[in-house]
Amino acid sequence: MKNIYLIITLFIGIQSTLAFDGRVKKSINLDWRFSLDANVNAQDKNFDDSQWRQLNVPHDWSIEGEFLESNASGTSGAFLPGGIGWYRKEINIDKLSKEEEYEIHFDGVYLNSDVWINGHHLGFHPNGYIGFSYNLTEHLVEGKNVIAVKVDHSKLPSGRWYTGSGIYRNVWLERHHKLHVLPNELLITTPEVSNEKAVVNVSTAIKNTWGKKKNIEVNFQIVDPKGKVVGNYDQKLKVVDQNEIQHQLELENPFLWSTDAPNIYYLNIAIKENKQLIDTYSTHFGIRKLDWIPQKGLFLNDQPILLKGLSNHQDAGPVGVAVPEQVLYRRLKMLKDMGCNALRTAHHPFAPEFYTMCDTMGFMVMDEAFDGWWKNKADYDYGIYFEKYWKKDLENFVKRDRNHPSVVIWSIGNEVPKFTNDEQESIVNELKKHDTSRPVTQGRGYLGTHIDLAGFNGHGELKNVIENYHKKDPNKLIIGTEITHTLQTRGVYRTKTWYRTKDNPAPWEKPEHFKRIEPRVYKIKDLSEEEVFTGITSKYQSSYDNSIVRIGVRHEWNRVEALDYYIGNFRWTGFDYLGESFNWPARTANFGIIDLAGFPKDHYYLYQSLWSDVPMVHILPHWSHKGKEGVKIPVVVYTNGDAAELFLNGKSLGKKEMTSERQIVWQVPYTKGKVEAIAYKEGKEWSKQIIQTAEEAYTMKLTSDRKRINADKKDVLHCEINVVDAEGNIVPNAMDEVTIEVSGAGKIIGIENGDILDMSSSKYDLTRKVFNGKCLLIIQSNGKTGDINIKVTSKTLKEADLRIGTHAL
Ligand code: GAL
Repeated sequence: MKNIYLIITLFIGIQSTLAFDGRVKKSINLDWRFSLDANVNAQDKNFDDSQWRQLNVPHDWSIEGEFLESNASGTSGAFLPGGIGWYRKEINIDKLSKEEEYEIHFDGVYLNSDVWINGHHLGFHPNGYIGFSYNLTEHLVEGKNVIAVKVDHSKLPSGRWYTGSGIYRNVWLERHHKLHVLPNELLITTPEVSNEKAVVNVSTAIKNTWGKKKNIEVNFQIVDPKGKVVGNYDQKLKVVDQNEIQHQLELENPFLWSTDAPNIYYLNIAIKENKQLIDTYSTHFGIRKLDWIPQKGLFLNDQPILLKGLSNHQDAGPVGVAVPEQVLYRRLKMLKDMGCNALRTAHHPFAPEFYTMCDTMGFMVMDEAFDGWWKNKADYDYGIYFEKYWKKDLENFVKRDRNHPSVVIWSIGNEVPKFTNDEQESIVNELKKHDTSRPVTQGRGYLGTHIDLAGFNGHGELKNVIENYHKKDPNKLIIGTEITHTLQTRGVYRTKTWYRTKDNPAPWEKPEHFKRIEPRVYKIKDLSEEEVFTGITSKYQSSYDNSIVRIGVRHEWNRVEALDYYIGNFRWTGFDYLGESFNWPARTANFGIIDLAGFPKDHYYLYQSLWSDVPMVHILPHWSHKGKEGVKIPVVVYTNGDAAELFLNGKSLGKKEMTSERQIVWQVPYTKGKVEAIAYKEGKEWSKQIIQTAEEAYTMKLTSDRKRINADKKDVLHCEINVVDAEGNIVPNAMDEVTIEVSGAGKIIGIENGDILDMSSSKYDLTRKVFNGKCLLIIQSNGKTGDINIKVTSKTLKEADLRIGTHAL
């Protein structure tokens, strides 16, 4: 604790003795004290917290708890606990100056937080997804100050998904001059954009809390993506309380922002008084042109573009909702590599860093404010507070996100039960007070008339629903805000099609349920007459695109490509997410195309074949089916080529053209060995893949995504454990139990195998099974320098180890 505590002290101390030269925003994530004790009142400055646990935020205490059937969070919250948690942190300030103000910013606390500084109550904030700030100035003293935060997540379920609990996003301490820019009031728009010219409008507010008039000079500077200053503007101002300032700049030959070329500009604002710099504020923005043209579709910088989108919840499997930046980045990078270009924040605002990554990586975001509105959807969700808080929370949300080029659509809700047109209108109007440059939609909100884009959830997967809506309202573009829903479990296959029916039984379990929906679903032909892979629990789903709710991925994408007014969709979901499982004992329902650990399922490659132009081919299923010798196994190939040839042990099984089914299938009598697919495009070899039967599991291969990490208590690496045979082939059905040890400069913050039925602790169960050959470790720097040593032992496998270095700071 001491070191970091000293750094903060020194930093603030030294700065306040120098001439004031701009605002300082410092992370105060490290060294908090924490207690999960509902019976304390720990707000007072002198409360003795020396026996409390010491930890760093972001922190999620729910994911540290046990999965228990009796936990009130139930299926929605993945059976993990809530409770009341207290956090306390010391902040030392050497010297206070009457020129300065201090603010504390919480990016997100789940939920119902009360905050105190030195025993003074600063406020209550119920919303767990949008950040909030408090001005600390009048309660600070020189020397020791104490922030106390009470988080009340005692009433569950508070959401329809896993929410986590605690200070699960970053916390910042900001010091600025009493005369300063108000970042929330900053609005950057680009009303005219072409390759030759862009008009950039900047408006913001300057606040003066001195209580007397000040003469200042404000400078706006625009820096292009190459680092060149391309715009400059100075204005003299007299500020008494608050002044608005606006300026229009013209830029020649701008670098446009797009999903392929996410060019970023910077705006630097500086305020001077008597030539002395007193405040600075910098942010980034993008220059792009979006046209939503009825009947024709969406155009980005005059080029047609489809939303190749995914809905996601914010949790990242084993780390819960306290998601380190590297974990988020790894996830987004996988999606980018798959060809995804759009993301929906289901069903609430995400962490600020998510939007910055989307800006710089090139994703379009459908930014969602709420799930339900006045009527709660889960027993204790935000619906309880909606009436009192929605306007303020909506304003903070829009003002927080409106300068991000990635944000292209606002969503005001999702499957809002029995909403009225007036309710929809009031929310749209309120939102448009703060931004008019983006269209507004709502998940399944097409029943109201005030949204700009008709959003269809699962209902839009039923036959002809979208087409019929278009006939009635031809001028409204349509998005599949939550389409496609399919399910799949990594490494699991069934050759007969499964349709989700009420209560989740398979059609062969409850045929009467299936009969009711049969005429309205887009049916998928069985891949064999008799089921090839029997004896699998019905909680696991097949990874051929044949475990569907109403439409499969392939038919749905054909529909998007065929209908100009249907501008794309946000699949439910990209990643498996905690919660919303089909009952105990399951943690999730397997909607993701990537599992909880971040291992891709076969659907990942299916989407890649539909969405990406980078040459690829993918074979499924795996080729280790001992006991099935001679049985015909459907081998499916996904490719963005136009034909493929399949080989079994070097012998061609034929070259076939890609079909309108967007896959190529061979029926292959099983014999062990090598399966190879060569994809072709326009007659030329395009891509190839070989898979091979694995022999007995022998050892593990450990691989890390980082060669070295920073010794900063923040940086993380992902280490994959792959069970392999003596030749190094991955054993795709291995379920061996392994024991993990990590020592040296790192600590385990998550262990995950992706098995929805594995209720082991993601944090503490160091002995656990791998699932279908794989398990993931997420390891974070513990602040020490030197090596991180990872050792994995097993009673059934030869042990394996890996050493990763750290960079000293
Ligand atoms: C939708 C809902 C999503 C998720 C999904 C699961 O109706 O909007 O949040 O619950 O169903 O199928």
